Amino acid sequence: MPEPAARKPCYYPDYLRLDRLLAAQEPESHRLGQPAHDEMLFIVTHQAYELWFKQILHELGRIQRDFAVRPLDDRHLLRIASGLSRIQEIWKLLIQQVDVLETMTPLDFLDFRDFLVPASGFQSLQFREIETRFGMPAKERPLVAGKPVGLRLSEADGQRLETAAGDIPLSAQLDDWLSRMPFLASDGFTFREAYRAAVQTSLAGDRAAILANADLTAEQRNRELAGLDRALERFHAIFQPEAARELWRMSPKAVEGALFIIVYRDEPLMQLPYRLLETLVAIDEALTLWRYRHALMVKRMLGVKTGTGGSSGHDYLREGAERMKLFPDLIQLASYLIPRSRLPALPVEIASKMGFAYQATRGA
Ligand code: HEM
Repeated sequence: MPEPAARKPCYYPDYLRLDRLLAAQEPESHRLGQPAHDEMLFIVTHQAYELWFKQILHELGRIQRDFAVRPLDDRHLLRIASGLSRIQEIWKLLIQQVDVLETMTPLDFLDFRDFLVPASGFQSLQFREIETRFGMPAKERPLVAGKPVGLRLSEADGQRLETAAGDIPLSAQLDDWLSRMPFLASDGFTFREAYRAAVQTSLAGDRAAILANADLTAEQRNRELAGLDRALERFHAIFQPEAARELWRMSPKAVEGALFIIVYRDEPLMQLPYRLLETLVAIDEALTLWRYRHALMVKRMLGVKTGTGGSSGHDYLREGAERMKLFPDLIQLASYLIPRSRLPALPVEIASKMGFAYQATRGA
């Protein structure tokens, strides 16, 4: 690195390329001779989103590179978890940004909306890349007029998305990592069998409580029992690979690993893996909240009008918010948690490996 004296002094506007950044707002309404005041807000808001999307992809890049190292270097687990926390915080901010855009009224939006056709949020390549890199299956996306969404991406953008789709997504990397969870068995102890029995007892207790609840109507009781049966069916599927493929996105081994981390999260060695899983769930939830928030904003701006990208608008986006989840299986695991007091006790051989080394030595 050159000596400070030899280096050109860093100048704030140059460092941030503000000449380019601040010259990049060119309202269509101005270009077409019908200036609409609020189009600037519309452009700046979208550009701010795209900058944050860029940061999310930057974080995801390092997270995925860390996960790609086999076996995972445990020293990288903290920065993976920190990177995910950063993504979570960014999504929280992105939800709030809707408030600013909503200071624009539907009538103000109509002043320039038609100039934007056929451009649409559908064409946000970075948004699609984020979904794809996390591992959102394309089939979850609602159809538009019975067909998969046509994104109308440029050739270069289409290729970039295809490249992202060809890479191993974070969901698969996570699956792989969870499947390699040690500690699941030792002499005379198998976590899956011990936990299976404990969950069955717990769900049988839930069933008895529903049957004994005199406040429920017959219809409510049947509905609750049907929900419990569905949960049981999914739980049993973890132990039958064929059935699991239909009912879980994650592999049975990964589900087992995730359950172990969640239920034994108080053990020192499980605390960071637990934080990581918890943050993934929080990101999924934040993205869903953003989808709902965006859908509500679209309803307020457009009513029942269709989108500039050709979808039904609000209905398409609301359906997407309900269906498009990043880690639905992790969220489902809550159905199979049991109180700490009823957890199968870990054999000493496993429990002793769960603490930090100096504790084990001290206790010995
Ligand atoms: C006045 C404000 C907005 C309106 C009326 C609006 C409207 C819409 C509509 C109707 C769609 C469905 C596709 C279509 O038919 O065009 C859509 C999709 C989308 N919009 Fe917006 N939008 C607004 C603001 C934003 C902002 C600020 C962002 C931030 C980047 C954004 C990102 C997206 C994305 C990523 C999609 C694709 C969603 C998916 O397919 O799951 N929108 N928008």
